[in-house]
Amino acid sequence: MTKLDKIKKEAIETHIPIMMDDTLDKITEIIGSRKLHRILEIGTATGYSALCFEKLLDDDGIIDTIERDEERIAKAKSNFELMKVKNINLYEGDAAEIIQTLDNKYDMVFIDANKGKYDFYLDHALRMLSEDGIIFADNILYKGYVMSGYNLHKQRTAVTHLRNYIKKSTEDERLESKIYEVGDGLEVTTWKK
Ligand SMILES: C[S@@+](CC[C@H](N)C(=O)[O-])C[C@H]1O[C@@H](n2cnc3c(N)ncnc32)[C@H](O)[C@@H]1O
Repeated sequence: MTKLDKIKKEAIETHIPIMMDDTLDKITEIIGSRKLHRILEIGTATGYSALCFEKLLDDDGIIDTIERDEERIAKAKSNFELMKVKNINLYEGDAAEIIQTLDNKYDMVFIDANKGKYDFYLDHALRMLSEDGIIFADNILYKGYVMSGYNLHKQRTAVTHLRNYIKKSTEDERLESKIYEVGDGLEVTTWKK
């Protein structure tokens, strides 16, 4: 078992929700042979997905990733050390605040944190997205709730914001968006060519 497999196994065993295999496969397929210079990830958890994305970078590429949970931050740091990666910047705190302070050009943005802020994250992702950049929004279908009439109080806010994300990204004439039924739903958004 590789070190990365161990990190993945540990996350699964400790019930940390990490990116699913078919989601990673779809992202890898979409990126293809392209090398990315800068990636923004919202929702690090223990660093598993960032470590997978590291392989998509060019030689001096960088990943900026944001996490607010202290235990997960500590685990992500030790996982980055274990994997000897130096090009992953871990931002500690609330992504909704931190994202407003960032001003880099990103070739890829991976949104994988609190669903109630997805549409807000989209605005900032678009503000910083490079001409050929790609935004991936994970869990966009949220166990099927987003496309059904399901309306339990507990999920209502999240579902409203996810629906708003889909509306914004599909109705904006500057954008091209597509939803894939992998993992818990993956929306892919690019600038229209
Ligand atoms: C689905 S997990 C991320 C999984 C990770 N991307 C992976 O695939 O390995 C979502 C993470 O987002 C974090 N999170 C949720 N809301 C956040 C916020 N407002 N700011 C920063 N992190 C947040 C949670 O603590 C959690 O660890």
